[in-house]
Order: sequence, then C-alpha cells, then structure tokens
Amino acid sequence: MKTINTTEITSATELYAVIGSPIKHSRSPEIHNPLYDEMGLDRCYLAFHIKPEDLAATIPFLRTNLKGFNITIPHKEAIIPFLDELEPRAAVCGAVNTVKIEDGKLKGYNTDGYGFVMGFTEAGIDVRGKKTLILGTGGASRVVAYELLALGCEVTLTNRTYEKAVKVQSVLQAAFPDRTVRVVLTDDIKPEYELIVNTTSVGMSPGEDVSPIGEDIIAGASILYDIVYTPPETAFLRIGKACGCQTVNGASMLFYQGIRSQEIWMDMPISEELRAPVYRKYQGKKE
Ligand code: ATR
Repeated sequence: MKTINTTEITSATELYAVIGSPIKHSRSPEIHNPLYDEMGLDRCYLAFHIKPEDLAATIPFLRTNLKGFNITIPHKEAIIPFLDELEPRAAVCGAVNTVKIEDGKLKGYNTDGYGFVMGFTEAGIDVRGKKTLILGTGGASRVVAYELLALGCEVTLTNRTYEKAVKVQSVLQAAFPDRTVRVVLTDDIKPEYELIVNTTSVGMSPGEDVSPIGEDIIAGASILYDIVYTPPETAFLRIGKACGCQTVNGASMLFYQGIRSQEIWMDMPISEELRAPVYRKYQGKKE
C-alpha cells in the first residue's frame, strides 16, 4: 500500500528527494522539509523507493523533474556511471550521496565526510594528527579515512575480509601519496590507537550487544566514534565510556551530511540560526 502525504505542490515547487532501497525509515525528509519551511521556500523533499534493477530507468525522470537528490544504500556507487560530473572527493571515496541537477546535467558529490567531521566539531574534539584505527573497509570507511587523512591523522585500516582492506589502502594511498596508510589483521590489533572509528554494521539494531573489538583494545583509546546511530549508544561506545573515552555516535553525521547537500543545492551556506530549530526537532525525534 502506498501512503501519500498531502502537500501543496504546484508547477513552481522545486522537487528534491532521497532515493534508496529500503527507504521507508529514511530520516532525510525530517531534515530538508523543515529547513524549507524555516526559509519559506516553495520546495518539497520526497523519498523514492528505487530498487537496484530500476535505477537506470529512473534516471531520466529524476533528471527532468528534480533539482537535486540524495542517494542512500544500495545506490551510492551504482549512480556514478549516470553522472555527467563527479567531484574528486566522491571519486576517491567511490560513493556519491548528493546529486545536483543543473541544465539537465547531473553532478555528484559526497557530503558524508563533512557530516562525519561535524560530529567531532560538535563534541569539541580536535582529531588533527591522531593515531587512528578504522574498523571496516566498506563504502563508509573510505569517506571516513579520506577526512581523517586530510586532517593529518595517521590511519590504519582493519577489516574482517583482509583483501578488501588492502584494496581500500591502495586507493587512499594513491589519493594521499605523501602519507602512509597501514593495514592490520583484526587478530593483530594492539591497544595503540588514540582514536578508533567503527564503520562496520556490527552493533546496529538488532545486534546491539556486539562490539566489533574487545575492551582490551578499546581501553587503549581516548576517543571512539561509531557511525551507527541506531542504537544511539552501541556496545562499542558503551565499553568505551566505561573505559573513560570520549564518544561520538552517527546521529550528527546524518544531520550534517543533509545540511551540506542543501548548501550544495542552494549554492550558499546555511546559517546556524536557520539550522538550529531544525536540529532540535530532529534530535527530539531520535530513537
Ligand atoms: P557501508 O557502505 O555502510 O560501509 P558496506 O560497504 O556493506 O557498508 O561495508 C560494511 C563493512 O562492515 C565491511 O567492512 C564489512 O566487512 P567485510 O568487508 O568483511 O564484509 C563489515 N562487517 C559487516 N558485518 C560484519 C561482522 N559481522 N563482523 C565484522 N565486520 C563486519
């Protein structure tokens, strides 16, 4: 059954959307529509359930009718061949979460990294130069590693499937030739990292009680960041807190990647004054 919310859309309304599969639980409309209300703009942000096999056929519709759209799982990589332009950061990360449409041309960006860094900013944590371990080498890990390398962190990757970690290492190494990106086998990790970032799905509902690494390693760190936001406190963060670590979860990353997408679409910064009431509402609804 389809549920359609009644919204006044006219031929003048600018349409934006998030595309993904599944899409039902996406929180992106909760970020963008209230922003349009705050700014008094005749814009509407929708959520489209697009199955992987339908992506190609949907592109002409998006190109013609929208001004921009966000992309979530599982299309972040699959969208790339359909784009007319790609920003360098998104090319290195191999993932696009934002598309801007201008004169019928699709330009791809990745704003997840901006959201990730805003999580530190909001928590008042300066990560520049920290010795860092990244758990997982899926799509999200590249974005995280890219930002941390840009901030001068010493980055080591680890992953359940070691060969995948080696592949990601070589991509990052090529993007940051004057830095050393390391890889470690999960069984060989030592408690020597100041910052540990979890980019795996371990700890996400319904597997809340599992941490991707043990207390012996966590206890050696001072900052933990889990990009998971449901639950707000994963076992990884809970153990870290008990060990005296500063902790950050993925909720602000999600919010700020949306804000950055909007800034790209509008081609102007969104002031703290505009985003604060939207953020308060968004946090209030957090699970
Ligand atoms: P995303 O785009 O969110 O990064 P992804 O590309 O599917 O998602 O990557 C998920 C990451 O979590 C991978 O690094 C994956 O490890 P593999 O490369 O070995 O698949 C990791 N991951 C998922 N489930 C895991 C588990 N039970 N234990 C350890 N790592 C896990």
